[in-house]
Amino acid sequence: MQATKYTIQDLLNFKTRVILYLFSLSSIVFLQTFCTNICPFIDGLQPLQLLRNLFIIFILHLLYRELLYYIFKENIKNLSLPRQAYFLSIISWVLAGISAFILHNYLYPNFPISSHLKIFSSYITLGAAILCQLEYIVFEKRYKEISKDIQYTIFNEKLSRRIIETFLIFTVAPIITLLLIVRRFNLDGVVDEHVTLELFYVGSLMLISAIIFAKVLKEDTKIIINNIKNVKNKEYLNTKTINRPDELGEISYAIKEMSASIKQGICKIEDLNEEIINTQKEIIYTMGEIAETRNKETGFHVKRVAEYSKLLALKLGLPKEEAELLKQASPMHDIGKIAIADSILNKLGKLTFEEFEIMKTHAQLGFEMLKHSNKPILKAAAIVSLMHHEKWDGTGYPNALKKEDIHIYGRITAVADVFDALGSDRIYKKAWEDEKIFKLFKEEKGKHFDPKIIDCFFENLDEILKIRESLKDIY
Ligand SMILES: [Fe+2]
Ligand SMILES: [Fe+2]
Repeated sequence: MQATKYTIQDLLNFKTRVILYLFSLSSIVFLQTFCTNICPFIDGLQPLQLLRNLFIIFILHLLYRELLYYIFKENIKNLSLPRQAYFLSIISWVLAGISAFILHNYLYPNFPISSHLKIFSSYITLGAAILCQLEYIVFEKRYKEISKDIQYTIFNEKLSRRIIETFLIFTVAPIITLLLIVRRFNLDGVVDEHVTLELFYVGSLMLISAIIFAKVLKEDTKIIINNIKNVKNKEYLNTKTINRPDELGEISYAIKEMSASIKQGICKIEDLNEEIINTQKEIIYTMGEIAETRNKETGFHVKRVAEYSKLLALKLGLPKEEAELLKQASPMHDIGKIAIADSILNKLGKLTFEEFEIMKTHAQLGFEMLKHSNKPILKAAAIVSLMHHEKWDGTGYPNALKKEDIHIYGRITAVADVFDALGSDRIYKKAWEDEKIFKLFKEEKGKHFDPKIIDCFFENLDEILKIRESLKDIY
């Protein structure tokens, strides 16, 4: 929701305005007695005269309010509506105070200036300070009403600042009021001069305690906000508690406990996730091994193919995640062989043309087994199974794909698989010498194999041989 959706006019509906005007009107009654109490000159006026003056200011005040609401009808940036209305109220009360000062100066030019200033100060303490606080509450209440249907709010105000403001105003305003009253009776000789001093002393203490309270409250709210931010930034153990015997203390403890249990939950989820991944990997290796075992191949063949594939993928510049995916998928390259009859799969002699044709179907069969899955590993495994017998020059099977039409996973696994198969003892052959394999690889570069991958293979031969050494077959 856009911040311009509501304006000050929405906030100030008829009901709110009536409440505001009643506040202003009630102040007339208060100001009438208050002004006579703080100034002997005003005390000398007829009650009706004073009431008339106050009523004039009341009307002027209404005009100031409406004028201000009209001028500042648009939202002020970074200011919430209640606070904007609150500031406008303060300005209207200050303007009313200035008007009262001017009016009295005009009507009673022989009164001392201090008398007019007292009128002004009473508008400030009662209106701009105390009544504005009540008006602020009215604005906030109304704001809740209008923002109920559509989520409309900006969180840029601080509760601690709000409490502190109120606290200070309700401390300072009564002190000034009392000082003015006592001062006036001092002058009349009704009370002793020391009463002013005592009041001043008590007032100062109240003020100091208000300031200290404000500081503590501000710091403690800051700790709570920081705690919440830490939870949001996943720094779960970086939460502080506040040793306060109240709601703030309780909130801080609740946040600490909450973040500890979130942390615990996340650890549990991570453990479970790791277990799922490990189980998945094991199942995949086992599936690959089943296929190879039926083919009477050696136990570590799939593990070595997995490691060679990952290494080549990384060296060819594939992202780490993809290389890891290929490592997990490549052991399944011959999974389709589980559907090939034993008589063909484990035939001691050379396969006939027909038998070899059947044998070749293992690539497509593997793909058919895996293609329905939407899991990345199985999807990659399906590609590997389908394409690991394709050749760079288009003479491979099952689809006689050429060059880059063969998926990079297929091209990499082809190199890894052939290298390992040639270097291992099989039922129908002894392991080839390395030199013989390398010679073949060089001859087949650009024919059977992607030349780029063959280059990469020789560039990283040391690491490949290290892998072979670490995953040697045990008989
Ligand atoms: Fe194969
Ligand atoms: Fe293989």
